[in-house]
Amino acid sequence: MTITFITGANKGLGRETARRLIELGHTVVLGARDPERGAEAAAALGARFVPIDVTDDASVAAAAKNIAEHEGHVDVLVNNAGITGPHRDAVDLTSADALGVYDVNVFGVIRVTTAFLPLIRRSQDPVIINVSSGMGSLVFTHDPERAESKIIAPLYTSSKAALTMLTTQYAKAFPDVRINAVDPGYTATDLNDHSGPQTIGEGTDAIVALATERPGAGTGRFVDRSGEIALR
Ligand SMILES: NC(=O)c1ccc[n+]([C@@H]2O[C@H](COP(=O)([O-])OP(=O)(O)OC[C@H]3O[C@@H](n4cnc5c(N)ncnc54)[C@H](OP(=O)(O)O)[C@@H]3O)[C@@H](O)[C@H]2O)c1
Repeated sequence: MTITFITGANKGLGRETARRLIELGHTVVLGARDPERGAEAAAALGARFVPIDVTDDASVAAAAKNIAEHEGHVDVLVNNAGITGPHRDAVDLTSADALGVYDVNVFGVIRVTTAFLPLIRRSQDPVIINVSSGMGSLVFTHDPERAESKIIAPLYTSSKAALTMLTTQYAKAFPDVRINAVDPGYTATDLNDHSGPQTIGEGTDAIVALATERPGAGTGRFVDRSGEIALR
């Protein structure tokens, strides 16, 4: 039985990933910061709800303790929780804006990874999936043919670039764990007021693929639903 823990899974890509992985036989522990919405989503999908706010050390530690006591280990950790931050003109951005976005998209992943590594390392085939974005790709944001090159969002893009780098660094630091970053692609969710052209099914294809790979599939990669993305 594969035990999978997903952060920010009460809605959007996290929730659909939970639904699909349950359908594929995973035991999913559904992480969400809002107790009511988290419990409702877990009940609807057949998951177990664990509260987690990735910006709060105590909340992250409590989630790891909870799972240690109930499931005993984690096979697949999906660091999915993420925010865009304020849609402000670049000239008006503040350090508080930056801290807010990075606290979820980057520091949150560091908090969760550090707290969950002992649980992950109890798995026979440990996997961490970091939900990054093509918006954080230097290649995509410099390719005039790609939609990513047309958008100016300094905090979101740089936080996702940092997350992809964090992923490749962790992959080198922890060779016993398969750690990859994923670009779901521009998908209709609350994150973008449902402006994305992809369906939620398309948006979760690459996450589900990484969560169901065989041992030895490779670490330190950045992938989307078409395959591997060039890192430079
Ligand atoms: N949709 C896209 O086009 C797209 C493209 C590339 C990458 N992504 C990435 O995919 C991931 C999921 O995004 P989505 O589109 O599914 O967005 P979404 O529908 O807005 O869902 C985001 C999830 O993250 C949770 N979250 C936010 N802050 C949190 C915190 N401090 N602690 C715990 N959970 C928190 C939200 O919880 P609440 O409901 O409580 O706010 C929600 O469950 C994000 O990392 C995003 O950057 C999305």
